Amino acid sequence: MTKKPTVLSGIRPTGYLHLGNYFGAVRNFLRMQDDFNCFFFIADIHSLTTHPTPDNLQAGVKQVLAEYLACGIDPEKATIYIQSDVPEVTELYTILNMNAYLGELERTTSFKDKARKQPDNVNAGLLTYPVLMASDIIIHRANFVPVGKDQEQNLEMARKFAKRFNRMYKKEVFPIPQSYTFDGKDMIKVPGLDGSGKMGKSEGNAINLYEDPKSIRKKVMRAVTDAGPTEMNQEKPETVQNLFTLMEIVSKPETVAHFDELYNNCEIRYGDMKKQLAEDIISYTSPIRDRIIDILKNDEYLAKVAKMGAEKARESASKTLAEVKKVVGFKRLF
Ligand code: TRP
Repeated sequence: MTKKPTVLSGIRPTGYLHLGNYFGAVRNFLRMQDDFNCFFFIADIHSLTTHPTPDNLQAGVKQVLAEYLACGIDPEKATIYIQSDVPEVTELYTILNMNAYLGELERTTSFKDKARKQPDNVNAGLLTYPVLMASDIIIHRANFVPVGKDQEQNLEMARKFAKRFNRMYKKEVFPIPQSYTFDGKDMIKVPGLDGSGKMGKSEGNAINLYEDPKSIRKKVMRAVTDAGPTEMNQEKPETVQNLFTLMEIVSKPETVAHFDELYNNCEIRYGDMKKQLAEDIISYTSPIRDRIIDILKNDEYLAKVAKMGAEKARESASKTLAEVKKVVGFKRLF
């Protein structure tokens, strides 16, 4: 039997998972669990760059772990772990830092963006964020990393650091990680509720999986539309198209067809459409929300999952780190 390729992805524990995360990423992770050797982890060390309070950090880690599990990531199939439980990652990070250059780190788009957004907190961790991310990936010798467009450059840096290490020590210690993109039909871009662009937690246009029905109704009813179509079969403006796109994701095809027909006949009432959309979102998310609530109450289960994940992740990480240490010359002659 050939070995399954290794897939790894991480998420920072800041905020709740929303519909965009679910349809854009998590749902695809579920499908990968059987075909790949999967590592999914919570990047709590990365989140320290923005100085969360200890309470917020703890709550955030617990929330994401519960949400991953509630979505159906199976700890018996995939390795789910918390980054800070695997000290091998930071050890590799220290070593990789010696071959990461100030110039290339300063040129990274995400560094420049964050330095502009938080000029009072341009810390060294922010600068070396791509080095830590590279360690996350190559410590498990990952072959594929499913990430969104915003992380492409960080992944490109990880490739660069892996290649540089292999070249410097004349040994293929690390495979070169590739970005993993889902094929066209599985690639769902979830729009936000503010009329433009995609759903994102920092855009403030998101519906969380954990959101209660009342709040979902309120958010959907407030979504941006226009004054309504004035001509038959008129093209939809982005704001309205976004509502239809959301409906295509969560509602029955007949429901979408019904409102599409009303739109094309200039008879649509956006209020009715939004009411329907809100209820269909609620039907989709409420079983997940119920599971999140249950899991959050079960500290014993969460601790068990975290412990099992940490053990599996450390087993894999320590093998790589042992080889790295040997290769760089930490192996004693005496
Ligand atoms: N940087 C990623 C983000 O902000 C999180 C992350 C950290 C990650 N390490 C990773 C993603 C390794 C993929 C692989 O979303």
